Amino acid sequence: MKKLCTSLLFLGLVSTFALVASDSLPSNEVWALSSFKEAMSDDPFLVLSNWNTIDSDPCNWFGVFCTPDRDHVIKLNISGSSLKGFLAPEMGQITYLQELILHGNSLIGILPKDWGMLKSLKVLDLGDNQLTGPIPPEFGNLTELVNMNLQSNDLTGRLPPELGNLKYLQELRLDRNKFQGPVPGGSSSNFSSTIHGMYATNANLTGFCRWSQLKVADFSYNYLVGSIPGCLDYLPSLYFQGNCLQIQHKDAKQRPVVQCGMQDMSVIRISLPR
Ligand SMILES: *[C@@H]1O[C@H](CO)[C@@H](O)[C@H](O)[C@H]1NC(C)=O
Ligand SMILES: *[C@@H]1O[C@H](CO)[C@@H](O)[C@H](O)[C@H]1NC(C)=O
Ligand SMILES: *[C@@H]1O[C@H](CO)[C@@H](O)[C@H](O)[C@H]1NC(C)=O
Ligand SMILES: *[C@@H]1O[C@H](CO)[C@@H](O)[C@H](O)[C@H]1NC(C)=O
Repeated sequence: MKKLCTSLLFLGLVSTFALVASDSLPSNEVWALSSFKEAMSDDPFLVLSNWNTIDSDPCNWFGVFCTPDRDHVIKLNISGSSLKGFLAPEMGQITYLQELILHGNSLIGILPKDWGMLKSLKVLDLGDNQLTGPIPPEFGNLTELVNMNLQSNDLTGRLPPELGNLKYLQELRLDRNKFQGPVPGGSSSNFSSTIHGMYATNANLTGFCRWSQLKVADFSYNYLVGSIPGCLDYLPSLYFQGNCLQIQHKDAKQRPVVQCGMQDMSVIRISLPR
């Protein structure tokens, strides 16, 4: 009898725990955060030292912010902490995430295309790291994005026209990377009718001429070629300086031809297999 009582009590405790557990973060969000930590090879200031699934609630982890009900992660901010490592694709699972701020670390490797699944993301700040490779076209699926900062990395490749899908975008900082190719304006020369008249018939349009809320777009110090799309003419010309663009403007000084020639060759080589 005593044994039965004990096991009933035990069962009671277990179900209480189960109830508490069902109130906390979904397991895929905890798993995503654990993957983020695992992908780090160096953490000199030990900012991830309390990131431990066994003895604490992830909502208390350094840099992690949750909803008031503590049922979803909505923000991750770990800036200027000299974190070294790769960006875990699993982070794309945290679909309630609104702000992802990893500015000023030593992050390496590519931008994971899975992060295009972060459909609630409003702020993405990966500036001042050592990230490489292109911007995945999937980032055009981050349709809630307002602010994207990728400045001061080693990113390469062409700018994907899909970024034109980011209809709420206000601030874009792509300066101080190694982007090549043109600034994609639109697929047709008739884009101005779409912007001003919102004619549904031109829904097919791609490229950066679709941005309507844009205030800042810094493309400076890359290897971009061609001309600036007319729809971006209103931006200050210093946002275009230090490239290989065909513009004559004293405030938008371009790179010497020697630097641009070499970049043109690699653009041609990269674009051949397409
Ligand atoms: C992120 O954290 C840093 C300090 O670690 C702080 O200065 C900065 O304001 C925070 N950014 C946001 C958007 O919360
Ligand atoms: C995201 O974008 C890519 C490339 O632009 C596309 O192929 C894919 O279907 C999109 N995924 C979703 C879930 O919208
Ligand atoms: C688009 O522009 C072309 C010339 O560039 C013109 O022939 C055509 O009529 C225009 N279409 C629309 C819908 O304005
Ligand atoms: C989209 O544009 C292409 C040419 O760039 C054209 O062939 C196609 O018919 C257009 N589609 C729609 C739905 O307007």
